[in-house]
Amino acid sequence: MGSVRQASEPGAIAEAAGILRRGGLVAFPTETVYGLGADATDDRAVARVFAAKNRPEFNPLIVHVLDIAAARRLVEWTGEAQALAERFWPGPLSLVLPRLPDCPVSGLAGAGLPTLAVRAPRGAAARALLERTGRPVAAPSANPAGAVSPTRAEHVLDALGDAVDLVLDDGPCAVGIESTVVDLSGETPALLRPGGLPAEEIEALTGPLARPGDPDTPRSPGQIASHYAPALPLRIGSGAPESGEALLSFGPDAPSGAAVERNLSPSGDPVEAAANLFAALHDLDRSGCTGIVAMPVPETGVGRAIMDRLCRAAAPRPLVDPPDRN
Ligand code: TXA
Ligand code: MG
Repeated sequence: MGSVRQASEPGAIAEAAGILRRGGLVAFPTETVYGLGADATDDRAVARVFAAKNRPEFNPLIVHVLDIAAARRLVEWTGEAQALAERFWPGPLSLVLPRLPDCPVSGLAGAGLPTLAVRAPRGAAARALLERTGRPVAAPSANPAGAVSPTRAEHVLDALGDAVDLVLDDGPCAVGIESTVVDLSGETPALLRPGGLPAEEIEALTGPLARPGDPDTPRSPGQIASHYAPALPLRIGSGAPESGEALLSFGPDAPSGAAVERNLSPSGDPVEAAANLFAALHDLDRSGCTGIVAMPVPETGVGRAIMDRLCRAAAPRPLVDPPDRN
């Protein structure tokens, strides 16, 4: 079992950076979700990340950097990348760009693709860790492939405790939903995954983003129907819960009669709801109920990312372990 250290404890960041530099795995908090970090330039460490998550090797990892200068050492930077990174980094935005010919990142981390997703996370612990490590850090969300993402250190310990060398605990993640992934490697910028940064804010700088499902939009290897799934079956509905069903509610007008209820935001605030989403799903999964009914959330701002995750959690599950979930 990996050990846990409070990120604020003296020496904790140095210890975590040392583990990364020696090829170990460190789960660390970012403003979105906890990541399962490895030195992105170390093939063996990156391979351990895929193994720990049971993640298929064709699904690339996001590489975390401290700032624009560090990103520019990895990928072909563009004017659009500069504008977006200046405005939104550090923050919940991952940019997919062509790898530089001498990019030091492990080919496995990028799943052999000619592009790489880079992001500068906002959390103070994540930034201190990146600075101290002095290398790009590959980090998918620290959950087994296909399962609910972790927004607290306990979630990581429960699901991947044996696979990590250290969990840095910095409390609950402020944003609570993964980064928005935008592909800047093609003709038109494309939204590959809605996330913590609302697409509208990006479009204010880039103009309309191509969307998943548009004919020319590249598909992200990680965006498949069933994903982010709790162990219990989940359906989306606004009516009364059925007998034995737990209710994941939103806003002041939740139906009554649920055996167990978690309200993502009693006041109806999507930002608060995003921050609570994954912890509520982890909780309800352990509630002893037979299923979960989730109320729909209005699809504006980060509400769109919440509905994306709920729809994927509600999608039919593959019968065997799926090959392509992250
Ligand atoms: O907020 C986040 O992004 C968190 C924290 C830890 O930073 N990380 C995260 O990583 O959500 P992960 O591995 O769970 O999701 C990464 C997504 C996947 O859908 C993957 O397919 C996509 O990014 N991705 C990574 N590299 C890509 C590339 N070169 N082209 C297209 N999609 C890519
Ligand atoms: Mg993930």
